[in-house]
Amino acid sequence: MSRLFRIAIDGPAASGKSTTAKLLAKKLGFGYIDSGAMYRAVTLKCLEQGVQVTNDAKVKQTANSAQIRFPSLGKVELDGQDVSDAIRTSRIVQNISPIASNPGVRATLANQQRALARANDPAWRGFLFKQSTQVRGVVMDGRDIGTVILPDAELKVFIVADARVRAQRRFDELASKNALGEGETVDAIAKDLAARDEADRTRAVSPLKKAEDAVELDTSDKTIDEQVAAIEQMVYDRL
Ligand code: DC
Repeated sequence: MSRLFRIAIDGPAASGKSTTAKLLAKKLGFGYIDSGAMYRAVTLKCLEQGVQVTNDAKVKQTANSAQIRFPSLGKVELDGQDVSDAIRTSRIVQNISPIASNPGVRATLANQQRALARANDPAWRGFLFKQSTQVRGVVMDGRDIGTVILPDAELKVFIVADARVRAQRRFDELASKNALGEGETVDAIAKDLAARDEADRTRAVSPLKKAEDAVELDTSDKTIDEQVAAIEQMVYDRL
């Protein structure tokens, strides 16, 4: 027997979604799709091509022409170039909100995200459950995965974490990659995160919102391993 199992993980910025989702995918042998990376890649393309991020029509055109791929776990390609690091800078984050609230961009990326979740890539080995059922699937993280992209996902998790904890995590992540901007502090990051959360929560299209049937997971006091283990258990409980 074989079963498809899709896991939607949503939550605010720096809540630990991506790290958790990636490790979970690795552990279960599932595919991993980082939907935020797709919005970041479109933002990068606009900045590189000098497209004003507030010019909705031009931004939409740019999104339509962007070829975004996930060649391996955690790697992102834009138009054939590895942009895994280039999409993680503060400059991208500062310009992303108008792009993420552009309905044309969301429609294009939503189609691609749904197609990716159906792709059933041979690299998604999955795992054998109770010696008889091969469980294969995908973990997708973002803001609207459980509500809009995969409303019928087999498991939906909404991750939350204290704002200060999130700012410190993001600071540590940027510092470890030597990607901290000049004079960037935890306070400045906290402000940025608060502004981005507000923009994500209040935008008209696909706002950040917990799906009614999502399980809320507060990671403020959890290690990454604990977060992964908690979601893994939810998967087994649903099989
Ligand atoms: O998860 P992240 O920080 O990489 O996301 C970057 C931005 O993209 C974030 O500000 C909101 C947006 N985003 C979105 O609107 N919908 C998604 N499904 C994922 C990300």
